[in-house]
Amino acid sequence: MDKKLNKGVFITFEGIDGCGKSVQSRRLAAYLQKKGYKCRLTFEPGDCALGEELRRVLLKSPAGSLSARTEALLFATARAQHVDEVIIPALKRGEIVICDRFIDSTIAYQGAGRGLDIKFLQALNAFATDGLEPDLTFVLRVSVATSLGRRKQDFDRIEEEGKVFFSLIADAYSLLAEQNPQRIKVIDGEADEDKVFAQICQKLEPFLASEGE
Ligand code: TYD
Repeated sequence: MDKKLNKGVFITFEGIDGCGKSVQSRRLAAYLQKKGYKCRLTFEPGDCALGEELRRVLLKSPAGSLSARTEALLFATARAQHVDEVIIPALKRGEIVICDRFIDSTIAYQGAGRGLDIKFLQALNAFATDGLEPDLTFVLRVSVATSLGRRKQDFDRIEEEGKVFFSLIADAYSLLAEQNPQRIKVIDGEADEDKVFAQICQKLEPFLASEGE
């Protein structure tokens, strides 16, 4: 039987490239579906027609071909369409939306990584999402060495950035977690897959219990 929530729940996964969030978000969606929740697994940038086109531009353009401001605006554009077309409708249907990357990626990558103004990026995020914020965010924390070691060989434009860039991003995620302790839960992503998943479930269960019937 389908489990009912009082309203949709919006969960996001964040972390540096190679932190394991894509595996864990897929695993969480499958686990919740098995428990009877209606779940919509999604990701950024992409998962709608415009988002897919912008993803190609953002990740496949040659190095140096997009300025930092252009990059930030394109991520925000993809997000606005994704929120309107995918996330809001699923939340309105009362589903659990699990999104691989969202607003915190922009603060970490375009803010800390590219050096753009954080206040402006917060305003840009608010505009792109129409004020929608995740109910719960899991930041999977791994060292930069682990991140580099786990990554596949065909790097996209952003993954080509070096160690310093990813250290800045990792620090930004730690700061975001400190600033938003209610929403952002830090998970030790260095542990093996099952242990990481157990930590996620442990943090999620009380939250879902308070949202349910
Ligand atoms: P993705 O395939 O999701 O990488 P990963 O699986 O490693 O997360 O690619 C998304 C890339 O885009 C990733 O390097 C982070 C970057 N990104 C930003 O820089 N800003 C953003 O707002 C978002 C959503 C992603």
